[in-house]
Amino acid sequence: MAVSTTDRGSWNSKLGFILAAAGSAVGLGNIWGFPTQVASNGGAAFLIIYLLCSFLIGFPVMVAELTIGRNSGKNPVGAFRSISSNKFFPLVGLWGVICGVMILSFYTVIAGWAFGYAFEEIFFAMGMDGAANWLTDTGNGVKNAIIASVFMLATVKIISGGVSDGIEKATKTMMPLLIGILVIMIVYVLFQPGSSVGIREYLLPDFSKINAELIFAAMGQAFFSLSLGMGALITYGSYLNKKENIPQAAAFVTLTDVTIAFLAGLLILPSMYLAQANGVEIFQDGQLVESTTLVFDVLPALFHSMGAIGTVFGVAFFLLLSLAALTSTISLLEVPVSYAIDEFELTRGKAAARIGSGILVISILISFFPSLIDYFIIIFNNIGLPLGGFMICVFIGYFWKTENAINEMEYGFAGIKQTLFTTVWPFFVKFICPAAILYTLGQILYGLFF
Ligand code: PFF
Repeated sequence: MAVSTTDRGSWNSKLGFILAAAGSAVGLGNIWGFPTQVASNGGAAFLIIYLLCSFLIGFPVMVAELTIGRNSGKNPVGAFRSISSNKFFPLVGLWGVICGVMILSFYTVIAGWAFGYAFEEIFFAMGMDGAANWLTDTGNGVKNAIIASVFMLATVKIISGGVSDGIEKATKTMMPLLIGILVIMIVYVLFQPGSSVGIREYLLPDFSKINAELIFAAMGQAFFSLSLGMGALITYGSYLNKKENIPQAAAFVTLTDVTIAFLAGLLILPSMYLAQANGVEIFQDGQLVESTTLVFDVLPALFHSMGAIGTVFGVAFFLLLSLAALTSTISLLEVPVSYAIDEFELTRGKAAARIGSGILVISILISFFPSLIDYFIIIFNNIGLPLGGFMICVFIGYFWKTENAINEMEYGFAGIKQTLFTTVWPFFVKFICPAAILYTLGQILYGLFF
């Protein structure tokens, strides 16, 4: 068992680390973000580009982040500083900390919506329509702010508990439950007449829909969903034992994350058409009426169509979604907290409380102006995270050097130098990933200005 001597902490077990990393990855990005993006960006065409981005770009970057984290044993800013004397790269870590802060500020508001919907199902079943409607009013600033505050409080509490006691414990039970309930609901939905339209939309690609915007959205979604580009996995890697096999852990996390996103699509896309048949307005002139709240419009309609059992499923689903969001908010908050602990020598509890309160101020602003979320997503998620990923690749490929990274990986993966991984991964980190990210961001920026 690992013993922690400082406020930094470490993982208690291999399973604990893997579940926490998967818990960070699996969250609103999979169940809210991914289906919304598929629905707004050309269905199956988006799915294909998203899968390519996750496996060909996300996975190599994830290995890179975990390796930097474990080698340095530091937060994202300190990690770059301790590995290289180059003055620029700590700023990349700082950009990651900023992205984490800004993403967390809107994430708590959406997580609050999910949490509110769990209780909506109960009030709705009890005929208390007034309370149910209050909870589902995503434009109600006061309600948004109250639930976002509850969420932030829970996040601060877990983070204050430390790495193994707080983060590890919170993640251990909810993942299998979430997958179980997703599968049951997919089976239910697939048996409903009319679901095939959604399935076709989701699984039959129309390649003519692939354009620069779609690739940009898919890349941003892959980075967000895998928790990459802002140093969350540098931070989680810094608590990692030398015995762990980094490429294997990264492969498991990537596969789990992509699978849950795929399952969520299999549930939501057909549900959209079922909800439409039940009178929920989803499209107008072929466009989605409201994308930010799509999942929250579609799923309750499905649960309500199921009768009494729908209430049970509805409550369970939204509670699990809230828990999945919580295991992601803790990883988002852990990034600035680890920075404050390492660099400013604050205690864990103080760092979590102070930073959490600061971020809550931005969350409250967003609670009253939810349309800000779209702008935050473009700047800090779709641009910020791939940019961070690009810098991480440049750092490993051209400054730290991939040979040193492979040496670090060798600790938990004896014989790595005899595998193909040693040839393929450096090639991706040096050339494929940076080129693909640069090309995608370049196309979008060019489109904006010219
Ligand atoms: N991966 C999380 C999700 O899919 O909801 C969001 C996230 C967590 C993004 C942690 C970035 C991060 F560092």
